Amino acid sequence: MTKPAGLKLVERDAGGVDLAFRADVLAGLAEAQKAIPARWFYDDAGSQLFEDITQLPEYYPTRAETEILSTRAAEIAGLIGAGRAVVEFGSGSSVKTPLLLSAIVPSAYVPLDIAGDFLRASSAALSEKFPGLPVLPVEADFMRRVELPAEVADLPKLGFFPGSTIGNMIARTATDLLRTMRATLGEGALLLIGMDLVKDEETLLAAYDDAAGVTAAFNINLLERVNRELDGDIPVDAFAHEARWNDAFARIEMHLVARRDVSFAVSGQSFAMDAGTSIHTENSHKFTKRSGQMLLAAAGWEPLARWTDADKRFSLVLAESRPPRSAP
Ligand code: AVJ
Repeated sequence: MTKPAGLKLVERDAGGVDLAFRADVLAGLAEAQKAIPARWFYDDAGSQLFEDITQLPEYYPTRAETEILSTRAAEIAGLIGAGRAVVEFGSGSSVKTPLLLSAIVPSAYVPLDIAGDFLRASSAALSEKFPGLPVLPVEADFMRRVELPAEVADLPKLGFFPGSTIGNMIARTATDLLRTMRATLGEGALLLIGMDLVKDEETLLAAYDDAAGVTAAFNINLLERVNRELDGDIPVDAFAHEARWNDAFARIEMHLVARRDVSFAVSGQSFAMDAGTSIHTENSHKFTKRSGQMLLAAAGWEPLARWTDADKRFSLVLAESRPPRSAP
């Protein structure tokens, strides 16, 4: 269901503070290992910094996934077939979405995003590029089941979840989301999902700690956002960006490490950190062919096809929704 007029997805207090942001930050800073969920990176400044990241020489995922979509377009289209409503989880990227939409012959395009402004902007751009294609944006949190527009109710669906955003989630949350996607998309749905691959540590660390310092600025912006929006006085220059490879969980972690003992307040609450301790700000899980297929299978998605770029850095998987079964 599209949101009723007047109902705000983002709840704010009288002072304009985003209540979910404040709750996440205060809870995360109270933990022994301090942490702030990665979704809060994406204010206007953070979204722009992420766009800049995708252009960096070290950040290969965007280029690798775009390479797969453009070189394998015919093959991908052949398996997906014509007439599906494409439901994108996220607002739509400037390059990848048009590549997919022009490869297949979709019957509608439904971008789902919680950020209404980005949703409207990218929908308008898409409409202009694809005249005649119904573009039906839905402002919604796709971590929950979404009621799709009535116009696409009887159409077969293709979910599109590029960028390896699934890698931001720990296995438990990722499984929940993939199952929720099956509920949103309905019976007979297909899913085209980007999954970044395990590779040498040096390449991974460089992708998350680039020479130009753009990823560092992206990470530090989170503290600036806390100071701006939550009445914080975090001494931003006392923190250093750090990317770490966690081998047990096959993930890159981003941290903000205190360079010295620091104390600060956020929304009237006081916090202290010892030098060398950190705020954990992001997980970016990397997959193998097996771990990717296992994650999809655990959520009821059966992989039908899988493609990688020429350098085998990134994978794109096409999977089909399967009803629960008890037989082996
Ligand atoms: C948008 C979640 C796919 O994990 O690679 C890029 C975000 N963080 N550099 C990723 C990100 C630091 C990105 N995702």
